[in-house]
Amino acid sequence: METRAFGRTGARVPVIGQGTWQMEDDDRAGAIRALRAGLDLGLTHLDTAELYGRGLVEETIVAEAIAGRRDEVFLVSKVMPSNATFSGTLAACERSLRRLRTDHLDCYVLHWPGSHPLEDTVRAFERLIRDGKIRAWGVSNFAVEELEEVLAISGPERIACNQVLYHLEERAIEHAVIPWCERNGVAVVGYSPFGNGRFPSPRSPGGRVLMDIAQDHDASPYQVALRFLVRSPSVFTIPKASREAHARDNAEAGKLHLTPGELRRIDEAFPLSAEPASLPVI
Ligand SMILES: NC(=O)c1ccc[n+]([C@@H]2O[C@H](COP(=O)([O-])OP(=O)(O)OC[C@H]3O[C@@H](n4cnc5c(N)ncnc54)[C@H](OP(=O)(O)O)[C@@H]3O)[C@@H](O)[C@H]2O)c1
Repeated sequence: METRAFGRTGARVPVIGQGTWQMEDDDRAGAIRALRAGLDLGLTHLDTAELYGRGLVEETIVAEAIAGRRDEVFLVSKVMPSNATFSGTLAACERSLRRLRTDHLDCYVLHWPGSHPLEDTVRAFERLIRDGKIRAWGVSNFAVEELEEVLAISGPERIACNQVLYHLEERAIEHAVIPWCERNGVAVVGYSPFGNGRFPSPRSPGGRVLMDIAQDHDASPYQVALRFLVRSPSVFTIPKASREAHARDNAEAGKLHLTPGELRRIDEAFPLSAEPASLPVI
């Protein structure tokens, strides 16, 4: 699986990873099998959060999936903004570590901008790094003005990533967020790459383009979409798959290479819309 520098953290991370949101609603054993099959195939960037299933996803799915193979995994979890005071962040991290049955996270992320002072959250993140509980920290759902605010607090080269909504029909981050992150050495982690399950129908004009390109490569339209989404050098994607066949399909996308002409066709079929007033989130 192709890897890239994850911001300025020094870590190299696979361009395609695995999400875990809403897995608590799926067949638990099947989801664990899918995550482990994904790990076998190099999808070692695992994204979770204290929010998911109110801790259940960390405790009963991710912990099981990484049991005995923690060293292979780039493990990311997130703190809820309502917990993101200085002491609240430290405590939330301890709870996630306990549920995940590990002694450290590779990256710890503020799930979205909240009302507690960012200075306190950043100070807690830095304390967690000093204490060896996390290797790096990042943010999620942050627009450029909010990223500027964090940067002013943290100084350069501290924000590892910004995790943001990014799929074929929602490309708003291409206007300002991706360029800002590339200028500042921040990894962009695109979430909901399949629109949270609302993937373009093969009967729609865009869906037909994906299908055409997929057929030329003996690939699936989902693989084509993933490959398009990681065409910029700072971008990663984290599809969620509770079915093993889906995890395998997503891993295979790592081998797919689209030509400049194919990238152009997808770009035209799912055109970038005008810049919205605020950053789209799910
Ligand atoms: N930071 C944030 O605020 C935030 C917000 C949303 C999401 N996220 C993260 O991003 C991850 C991914 O986003 P998401 O969960 O919203 O949805 P998604 O990845 O866009 O879509 C998931 C859906 O696509 C299906 N699928 C996966 N691979 C497929 C394939 N190869 N072929 C056909 N169908 C496939 C899944 O089916 P099965 O599950 O049945 O296999 C599931 O129904 C989340 O799990 C979470 O970790 C973060």
